[in-house]
Amino acid sequence: MTTHQLFQPFELKSLRLKNRIVMAPMTRSFSPDGVPTSQVADYYARRAQGEVGLIISEGTVVNRPSSSYDAGIPHFYGEKALHGWKDVIDRVHALGGVMAPQLWHVGVVAPGTSGWLPPTPFEGPSGYVAPGKPGGVAMTENDIDETIQAFAQAAADAKTLGFDAIEIHGAHGYLIDQFFWHPTNQRTNGYGGETLVKRVRFAAELIRAVRKVVGPDFPISLRISQWKLQDYSAKLAATPQEMRAWLAPLADAGVDLFHCSQRRFWEPEFDGSDLNFAGWAKKLTGKSTITVGSIGLSGDFLAAFQGEHSIPCRLDELMRRFDRGDFDLVAVGRPLLSDSEWARKIHEGRSSELVGFSKEALATLI
Ligand SMILES: Cc1cc2nc3c(=O)[nH]c(=O)nc-3n(C[C@H](O)[C@H](O)[C@H](O)COP(=O)(O)O)c2cc1C
Repeated sequence: MTTHQLFQPFELKSLRLKNRIVMAPMTRSFSPDGVPTSQVADYYARRAQGEVGLIISEGTVVNRPSSSYDAGIPHFYGEKALHGWKDVIDRVHALGGVMAPQLWHVGVVAPGTSGWLPPTPFEGPSGYVAPGKPGGVAMTENDIDETIQAFAQAAADAKTLGFDAIEIHGAHGYLIDQFFWHPTNQRTNGYGGETLVKRVRFAAELIRAVRKVVGPDFPISLRISQWKLQDYSAKLAATPQEMRAWLAPLADAGVDLFHCSQRRFWEPEFDGSDLNFAGWAKKLTGKSTITVGSIGLSGDFLAAFQGEHSIPCRLDELMRRFDRGDFDLVAVGRPLLSDSEWARKIHEGRSSELVGFSKEALATLI
């Protein structure tokens, strides 16, 4: 097995990557009062130095009173936080890295373990945190308009600060995904409805607004998932036709890159083909895609949160799919959280030096 193919450059609009390895977005909560510190900048700079092609930041929240559920999650608004992010991107660029912030609104969620609560109730399409479980308020049309503007402002600020692209967090059962998912979107006013096509409207309007402010050449990635933190087995699209109905309007609205979140990248998305989620998204939309989920590790990340230690494993199956052209980029989470040198070690064939992941790695910014 060879992995040198992962070290070929990639271009997408104004984005130029030296290789195909992406650092997956990972919430770390080390930004007191939402302001990224110099330790956060050092953490990302180490990944730039370690040959990561594209660094996607941890989820960083847009300017809405209840967009966050923890005081340590970074903001992507306000002078101090944006100053912190400017330091991050300057450090990353100085080391030859390329980076996109992941713009996020948590929607209606259960309060975090710290007990911290935002100043206003959590907001979402219908106020549900999970099927039949209230946990916040239903957004008015004015709330929706302001939220779309908050994402557009954050995207404009990302470009002004010098970031190379942006990613919008549309996955895992958070705000945008709560609009996609029928159990959490019971609206009847045009942002909801029985079909996925109707429930895509919020995301499509949001992406159009972002595209308008960043211009035609600035890459927009959208992270999506079938699974939800509220239900690991949920599927928004049960067939390729439904997946096309979900993704085509988003591609039309301006998405350049679909970041297709799976827990295990090798799992086929539909019966009758071994294509995974990223493979199908590329085939159905013609857009570039990123795959992710337990690349180079023995166990998935939710098992890891429950204390399972994951050990390094081979990349043969990843390379088989990559060589077939199923996806363009590969995102790696926990291996890069534990080891800033992961990409370089793969490049140099130093597989005996790879480290696994255990949740103790979350305690500090290594
Ligand atoms: C500590 C931690 C925090 C995460 N935070 C985010 C996040 O902010 N946004 C997001 O889209 N995914 C988040 N994820 C999911 C990862 O981006 C990734 O999809 C997942 O870890 C699977 O990749 P892996 O098996 O390589 O770790 C997080 C995962 C971990 C381990």
